[in-house]
Amino acid sequence: MQKLLNQYTQVTLWMTIVLIIAAPVYVVYDLFLRQPDKVEALHDEYVDKGSYLFAANQCWRCHGYKGEGGIGLPLNKTDSLSAREAKDPFIFKTIARGRRGTQMPPWHKDEGGPLDTEQIKMLREFILDGTHWGSYFDEEPLLVGDKRWKLTDNFLADHNLVPPAPLSQEDRGKALFSTANCIACHNVTSETKVGPGLAGIFQKDKLPNGKPVNDDTIKEWVQKGSASYKSDPSQQPYMPPYAGVVNTDDKMADMIAYLKTLKK
Ligand code: HEC
Ligand code: HEC
Repeated sequence: MQKLLNQYTQVTLWMTIVLIIAAPVYVVYDLFLRQPDKVEALHDEYVDKGSYLFAANQCWRCHGYKGEGGIGLPLNKTDSLSAREAKDPFIFKTIARGRRGTQMPPWHKDEGGPLDTEQIKMLREFILDGTHWGSYFDEEPLLVGDKRWKLTDNFLADHNLVPPAPLSQEDRGKALFSTANCIACHNVTSETKVGPGLAGIFQKDKLPNGKPVNDDTIKEWVQKGSASYKSDPSQQPYMPPYAGVVNTDDKMADMIAYLKTLKK
């Protein structure tokens, strides 16, 4: 009996020793070898679900079906978006709270929206990943194995969603007015901001450079700004050139069509 007990104590002792050694080894293995896999899997899952949330919540009505922008800013310029995000994490905040004074609504439940924190993180992961624009994952009505998500190229049709009507030239111009940041210096009323208010711009006799207002002179003005008549940028008021942003004939035509809608 004494011998049996002794054996038993020895076995327990050895098992304890094995456990003491094995536990840290397992932790190290989990941390360094398995964890990256887990993170990768979680990332993929977030991207898949984020893509579903983007499609199902109809973010594309404003940001374009392929993230190309429209009423809202483009979201598919992945590199520049990631660079901005690295400097100042704005994506979660913007989606959660929206942007006051713009058409971007708040989406977080705390702000009266439909989404929770995890879902907004998924949208952020999807946007930053940038590989799934235009082809979205869909939630399967039934679980197939352990997969709940399938890739679909017909999200709109599958969900009886109507794609947005193409924007009118004036609406594209309006969006450009905001994305090109004209809005930082110009009110669309008569009130002066940094530059003159632009209400009734096409009813004016002259631009600051003395030229009569028409499509051609407005085009020159937007491209060159005050450099169309002043050589010294320190001489205020001075508008910088915007040839770099309103950089195609189409964009210029959109801008002009919009400016024409601004009546006194
Ligand atoms: C009704 C139109 C509208 C809808 C719907 C909408 N957005 Fe926006 N969103 C905007 C506008 C407009 C802006 C730009 C605001 C500004 O000028 O700063 C914007 C800005 C953003 C930005 C910041 C972009 C940047 O470069 O600063 C993100 C990210 C974004 N939206 C994500 C989403 C997501 C995700 C959804 C869906 C859950 C969504 N938006 C739905 C209109 C919309
Ligand atoms: C950094 C500030 C700033 C930005 C941004 C800016 N402007 Fe201006 N804008 C001005 C100033 C200042 C003037 C007056 C310049 C002068 O008198 O020489 C002006 C003048 C104008 C005028 C003539 C207004 C009048 O009543 O005679 C038009 C049109 C105009 N801007 C259009 C635009 C458009 C379109 C954009 C965007 C592509 C833009 N501006 C962006 C500062 C700005």
